[in-house]
Amino acid sequence: MLLIRFVHFLGMALWIGGMVAAMVLSVSARSATGAERNAAFRWAGRLYSLVVGPGALLTVVTGLVLTMSLAQRAGSQVMAQPSIWVMQVAGLVAGVLVLFVALPTSTHMARMADAAADGELPPAFGGMRRRLSMVVHVVAVLVVLSLFFVVVM
Ligand code: HEM
Repeated sequence: MLLIRFVHFLGMALWIGGMVAAMVLSVSARSATGAERNAAFRWAGRLYSLVVGPGALLTVVTGLVLTMSLAQRAGSQVMAQPSIWVMQVAGLVAGVLVLFVALPTSTHMARMADAAADGELPPAFGGMRRRLSMVVHVVAVLVVLSLFFVVVM
């Protein structure tokens, strides 16, 4: 189980680190124009598909394995502790939002930025950017909540 726990932490580091890096890129894209702005969105899309998505998948899958092991070792009383179930619920919801909403949206945006080369982005891009920003904020709150409950509570 030590290896599974290690992969759980590794996934978490990739997930959080990748999201912070993509957020910095998207914020700096605000003051950029043309080719520079579009390149920032392409890189943000790559970060989601190569770092954030795999990180979230690793965290959720190893979290489920750790849950089964903990249930066998310690029984249902431990599972009822908020430190465990808040992490599980918040982590699962955050993982689903990343894998099924943020990841496809950011890769779609990256493809649009790629097609635009150094020109203007299509009108649909603005709506996608707002959707991604909203989902990423919700995910960030859930991830911090998971970490806070499992470590501090
Ligand atoms: C953002 C998501 C998550 C974060 C930040 C997170 C964080 C952590 C941390 C820091 C630990 C180590 C706790 C310790 O050793 O004291 C841990 C362990 C664990 N995690 Fe997560 N986790 C997340 C998602 C999940 C999910 C989705 C599940 C299950 C569905 C899960 C199930 C577990 C279990 C069962 C343990 C082991 C508890 C034990 O053996 O004492 N985690 N997690």
